[in-house]
This record gives sequence, C-alpha cells and structure tokens, in this order.
Amino acid sequence: MIELHEIQSLEDTRLPSPQSPLPGIYPDRIPTLRVVPMPADSNMHGDVFGGWIMSQVDIAGGITASRRANGRVATVAVNSFLFKQPVYVGDVVTFYTEVIRIGNTSITVRVEVFAERVRQRGEIIKVTEATLSFVAIGADKKPRPVPPEGE
Ligand SMILES: CC(C)(COP(=O)(O)OP(=O)(O)OC[C@H]1O[C@@H](n2cnc3c(N)ncnc32)[C@H](O)[C@@H]1OP(=O)(O)O)[C@@H](O)C(=O)NCCC(=O)NCCS
Repeated sequence: MIELHEIQSLEDTRLPSPQSPLPGIYPDRIPTLRVVPMPADSNMHGDVFGGWIMSQVDIAGGITASRRANGRVATVAVNSFLFKQPVYVGDVVTFYTEVIRIGNTSITVRVEVFAERVRQRGEIIKVTEATLSFVAIGADKKPRPVPPEGE
C-alpha cells in the first residue's frame, strides 16, 4: 500500500496525458476508452461476460460517432463482432475507434479492443474487433444529415 508520505510530488500521482501513446498497441493513436472489468462483469465461468464487452464497444463507437455527428447518435446496427480472445477480470481493456464510412445520416465505426493482462506481466493482445453503424438523430429522434467535418 502506498503511504501518503511516499508520494514525492503531485506530479507523481498524475495519469499519463491523453497524448501519451500506450506501449505496444498503436503508438500514434489515442484510445477512445480504457476500462478495467470487475468481478460483477464476469460470466458463470469467471471470464468477462461478452455482453459487457459489447456494451463497452457500443459506448466507444458511440463516442466517436457522436463527435463526428456533432450531437446525438443512435446505434442502428452491429455489422460484425468478433471475440478473438477472452477478457479477464482485472485486464486493462483499451478501445480504439475509427470512422470507416459516412453516409447521409449514418456513420460506421470500427472498434478494436486490446487487453493488457496485468496478471501476466502486462502482455497486450487484441481481444475483439467490431463494426457498428450509428445514425445522427435530432431532438425529434429522427435521422438528420451528418454535418460536414468540423461543423
Ligand atoms: C436509428 C433510427 C432513428 C433510424 O431511423 P430509420 O427511420 O430506420 O432511418 P432510415 O431507414 O432512414 O436509415 C437511417 C440510416 O441508417 C442506415 N441503416 C438502416 N439500417 C441499417 C442497417 N441494418 N445497417 C446499417 N445501416 C443501416 C440507413 O442506410 C441510413 O443511412 P444513410 O442515411 O447514411 O443512408 C431508428 O431505426 C431507431 O430509432 N432505432 C432504434 C435505435 C436504438 O434504440 N438504438 C439502441 C440504443 S442507442
């Protein structure tokens, strides 16, 4: 346990800046989301429940789609979803997203998920990849055109 007197300065307690690359994954990309699953997120076998991963993928994709849409989006489709490797409780799970298609009202996002096996000397492996479509919606919850980039 870290005692208060062991912290040399406030600098020591800061998280890496969002600009800091994570080692071993995409050094030039900023992850959209990082999260650690807890025991409550596991299935009856003790691995992390697939529905938890799907939910986080939807959140990560939605963040990116919402930024691009400059407002509210709704998930309209999960086009593909591949669980390549299991996720374990205590892994540091990192989600990278990228917009791969923009339609009239829709935005398609690829999400890649990596797990850092903290209990296994920090090995980082790709665990999931998925593609989801989101629709930009207005206050009336009806589709609206995706605005030009930067608007
Ligand atoms: C999202 C929603 C508003 C779209 O309304 P809609 O009347 O079905 O809209 P449209 O048929 O005009 O389709 C809108 C866009 O979605 C795309 N789309 C529709 N079905 C799709 C599918 N199965 N896969 C990929 N894209 C699809 C259309 O191609 C269109 O894109 P474009 O404008 O870029 O060409 C409506 O379907 C909805 O409210 N769904 C529920 C959303 C939800 O609850 N999500 C979970 C929680 S966020």
